[in-house]
Amino acid sequence: MAGFPVTRMRRLRRTPGLRRLVQEARLSPQQLVWPLFIKAAGSRTPVEAMPGVFQHPLGEAAELAERAAAAGVGGVLLFGLPASKDDLGSGAYDEKGVIQQAVRAMKKAAPDLVVITDVCLCEYTSHGHCGVIRNGTVDNDETLELLARTAVSHAAAGADIVAPSDMMDGRVAAIRRALDDNGYPDTVILSYAAKYASAFYGPFRSAADSAPKFGDRKAYQMDPANGDEALKEIALDLEEGADLVMVKPALPCLDIIRRAKEKFGAPIAAYQVSGEYSMIKFAAERGALDGDAALREALLAIRRAGADIVITYAAYDIARAGGL
Ligand code: PBG
Repeated sequence: MAGFPVTRMRRLRRTPGLRRLVQEARLSPQQLVWPLFIKAAGSRTPVEAMPGVFQHPLGEAAELAERAAAAGVGGVLLFGLPASKDDLGSGAYDEKGVIQQAVRAMKKAAPDLVVITDVCLCEYTSHGHCGVIRNGTVDNDETLELLARTAVSHAAAGADIVAPSDMMDGRVAAIRRALDDNGYPDTVILSYAAKYASAFYGPFRSAADSAPKFGDRKAYQMDPANGDEALKEIALDLEEGADLVMVKPALPCLDIIRRAKEKFGAPIAAYQVSGEYSMIKFAAERGALDGDAALREALLAIRRAGADIVITYAAYDIARAGGL
């Protein structure tokens, strides 16, 4: 390689056209997944902690599906706010539950739109934990059955992909078996495989009304200090039958995304979570930085690290603008 002055790295940075031509990482609309909050009762409400994000009533599900399909996003990821909660999170696996109804409406309105459902109990339990509470802690094995029931009910409603986010051991195998036994061998599993106990989920918990009423999630979600453990989690989920695996949060885990991409052949999804999104939005609102530029930089870094699919609350806006 010739050095300076034959080589001038700035030559290819000179104009927008040249910069675009040599851009390495890109994100097209179909690689983006748009998370949506759907509520059983009440009207459209802005989420205070997430500028530009809303809780949508069920009645808007069909229209949202049409909008998402028209924008060309890769998929939508649904979170439910049920009309009522109980100890066992029964709203999660109710055939007439909010997500089951939303999926039916969305698949009817936009049959080709990929609909992904979050499979977890925390939005449906009165205590806000992701499973059944026994002796003050989440009981792993008892929770598996309820997660499997939830996934089957989502598949029955027409979900293309179910995405367990609870971090119980063995949930992917339990869900795969239940889907197969109930006649849904083609329903895809996207597991939140490497999911950390992250402070960046804060805004989401107010959006989804899913904050734990006591304690925290550190006894089931991962310690941010650990990296090798994330690879073990991913390996186990793939062994249990996960088709797609996720790393979450995204920007604090670029190393994990890269290691997972290099180690496993499976498509890797990365979730730019609520706090990652909101910190950019709030900083921009206060005039501290350029929000669109910061979002682009963060999302392309996630892609550059190796994510094949990027989940972001900005998916719709970015897809409408043609991607990054
Ligand atoms: C449910 C779930 C959470 C998120 C996705 N699924 C919250 C949590 O684990 O507490 C977080 C998403 C976000 O912050 O955007 N278990």
